[in-house]
Amino acid sequence: MRHCLGLAVLAALAAAGPGCSPGRYSASGLHLPMDGNVERGKAAFVELGCNSCHKVDGVDLPGPTVVPPVPVRLGGQTSRRVSDGYLITAMFSPNYHLAPHEKGEIATGGQSRMPAFTEKMTVRQMVDIVAFMQSRYTVRRFTPNYTFE
Ligand code: HEC
Repeated sequence: MRHCLGLAVLAALAAAGPGCSPGRYSASGLHLPMDGNVERGKAAFVELGCNSCHKVDGVDLPGPTVVPPVPVRLGGQTSRRVSDGYLITAMFSPNYHLAPHEKGEIATGGQSRMPAFTEKMTVRQMVDIVAFMQSRYTVRRFTPNYTFE
């Protein structure tokens, strides 16, 4: 019986194995260069017109100007750290996961209103814009009695 249990555990581990190794679409190996610059990122954000749709928490930028307005404000308080992979995916593959908002306000015909920046953004701008956006998010953790710290 003991022996059987051991085998069952081994079989379960073997089955879980491939699931644990990061696959092609995992962001776990993604690490941007550490020289992202917040000020350059802010400038690139305006240069690429991101501010025509987005307000950024705590930053005074011209705009937004699009009609109807985009309700997606970047930065601010979150309950979990926003990953670089999430932000990069949002910029290059906006339809992959839509921001948590009313679909009718952020998508038309099921497609994100945000254009993919694949052709328009250099890697330098991407690294700096990610640094800029990351600098605007603050993580607030729930305390055990379900209030924010
Ligand atoms: C034409 C309007 C428009 C422009 C320009 C635009 N966005 Fe967006 N953006 C959106 C909309 C709409 C969403 C929500 C739908 C989605 O997640 O794709 C969004 C979502 C995002 C998100 C995900 C936010 C979240 O909370 O999940 C990020 C990050 C983002 N945009 C960054 C940028 C950056 C950086 C630029 C400029 C390089 C930019 N956007 C330009 C409309 C725009």
